[in-house]
Amino acid sequence: MLIHDTIAGLRAALKVSRGGTPAIALVPTMGNLHEGHIALMTQARGYADTVVATIFVNRLQFRPGEDFEKYPRTFQADCEKLVAAGVDHLFAPTEAEMYPRPQGFHVVPPAELDGTLDGEFRPGHFKGVATVVMKLFQIAQPQVALFGKKDYQQLMVIRNMVDDLNLPIEIVGGETVRAADGLALSSRNGYLSTAERAQAPRLYRLLTRIAEALRTGRRDLATLEGNAMAELSSAGWAPDYVAIRSRRDLQPPADSDAPLVVLAAARLGSTRLIDNLEV
Ligand code: PAJ
Repeated sequence: MLIHDTIAGLRAALKVSRGGTPAIALVPTMGNLHEGHIALMTQARGYADTVVATIFVNRLQFRPGEDFEKYPRTFQADCEKLVAAGVDHLFAPTEAEMYPRPQGFHVVPPAELDGTLDGEFRPGHFKGVATVVMKLFQIAQPQVALFGKKDYQQLMVIRNMVDDLNLPIEIVGGETVRAADGLALSSRNGYLSTAERAQAPRLYRLLTRIAEALRTGRRDLATLEGNAMAELSSAGWAPDYVAIRSRRDLQPPADSDAPLVVLAAARLGSTRLIDNLEV
């Protein structure tokens, strides 16, 4: 008999007894798939024999007045892309399947993480995300799950949920896939008018400039953030935040050599765009 007094030790032993390599990699999405999603599917193949994608527009993570109803639903085109990417299984449930009665139990992220950045501007959003991702984890029981760094705070919410609740799942973060002009690919880019689409790469250019300033040693974070907000406003955007944060916990950095990430969210017309860059 093997006696284990650590969680990692028990899990490692159980994994070996199941044959070693992880069997299932999960890539949750809300559909309207683009190259950012597909990159995660391709990467997933490197982690497991079986790749499972999900498409479910999760009402729980939208606030009243947000774009749940008009969120683009392009199931046929999505299926073709998933087939071309070699995905083995697609789970695309109806709402009645996922929420046969109003969801009673929820996964609630801690206030430090939920009360800042996108959590501050979209109260309840990450609770909705964490709850549906926990359900998808229980449904597919993957050993690995992949999420994009494009949604940096979401990735951190999932990582912390997995750590805090001891879920036996490895979380892999995929790099942000961008258009040639720098705009991060997003299903919401489809809402932009031609004129707005031409304006949209400004957000990435701004983040790039801040990251460069930080790399050359600037540490007047409040000035950098304030100037960036003002620049977006005067270009006709409505910024929610431009923030330089510690990569470790997304809080304002406590010491001068903390690894940093610059995050921003801003509305261009009626479309809310988010982006970030690790420094
Ligand atoms: P969705 O916006 O469809 O994104 C699905 C996954 O693709 C997420 O992990 C997201 O970070 C990643 N992704 C989106 N755009 C990307 C890009 N340009 N480059 C790399 N990865 C990108 O995020 C969600 O859905 C939902 O909140 C979900 C996790 C599915 C829960 O409902």
